[in-house]
Amino acid sequence: MGRVNLAALPKAELHLHIEGTLEPEMMLALAERNGVQLPYPDVDAARAAYVFEDLQSFLDVYYAGCGALVTEQDFYELTFAYLERAHADGVRHAEIFFDPQTHMDRGIPYGVVFDGITSALRDGRTRLAITSHLILAILRHLDAESGMRALDAAFAHGGELVGIGLDSGERGNPPEKFVDVFARARAEGLRAVAHAGEEGPPAYITSALDTLHVERIDHGVRCLEDDALVERLVRDKVPLTVCPLSNVRLRVVDRIEDHPFRTLLERGLVVTMNSDDPAYFGGYVVDNYRACVDALGLTDAQVLEVARNTFRASFLDDRARAHYLAEIDAFTS
Ligand code: HPA
Ligand code: ZN
Repeated sequence: MGRVNLAALPKAELHLHIEGTLEPEMMLALAERNGVQLPYPDVDAARAAYVFEDLQSFLDVYYAGCGALVTEQDFYELTFAYLERAHADGVRHAEIFFDPQTHMDRGIPYGVVFDGITSALRDGRTRLAITSHLILAILRHLDAESGMRALDAAFAHGGELVGIGLDSGERGNPPEKFVDVFARARAEGLRAVAHAGEEGPPAYITSALDTLHVERIDHGVRCLEDDALVERLVRDKVPLTVCPLSNVRLRVVDRIEDHPFRTLLERGLVVTMNSDDPAYFGGYVVDNYRACVDALGLTDAQVLEVARNTFRASFLDDRARAHYLAEIDAFTS
């Protein structure tokens, strides 16, 4: 056990909010460059503020940090820095969320955000050999009309967008609030995913499947409270994008030793490992693998299964998926 070189292991990351990769150093530098006022005098003060009671207390800090991002160059630098960090963690493919409504509501045009991110993704492909997909996340604390306006902007602007997601404050904002937004996005050819069962009840996972027709569940750890739901997720091979260090920081679980990651795997679910908002949660994706190996005693075989799951659960085409799975085979032989 524990012999797999976790950083060298080929892997995909499927649950990553690009705004959640804004490290305090960059946040303060961009704020200064853009003349934006932040509530932190320095990097240490920012880090000291990253103590959260729950999802909402995190989101308040996360949306405040987004204020530092203004220009296309800012979004480029944010995204390329993540890709370089992911590259060091053996990430070969990333499916990345962005939150356009947060920026549009501050007067930043959709195209500034999208073009900055996608030009970094292109450079990630050529300079780092990381493939990537972009997923537009709808903010569930806002109303469906605001979500529709984000889609209006996305379709008017064009460019490569693979999916639609659903994030932000879960409690009181069930998936069915966004039936029309998701129906439209799927009709336009987007793949659908949703955060569900992080803080919200298992019923939100069921609703995401039945009303939004999502193909993956982000987090989903609370499925374990409903045996019939677990059976359904296993039978239908619905992947879960699990983020262990996030769950500890946002108090979904008390300690990493209490995290159900291993249980989820052993129940036969298609579990993947992800970092969510690594600048805020104390670790990138390899830190999440390492924490689970150390605290939960994941075996080498389980670690390899999780890495394979990350490609199986991705929106890559069959050829690219087979290529990456063969890389894992080569890694183990
Ligand atoms: N959960 C919900 N919404 C989010 C998160 C999260 O972990 N990160 C950024 N938006
Ligand atoms: Zn998330």
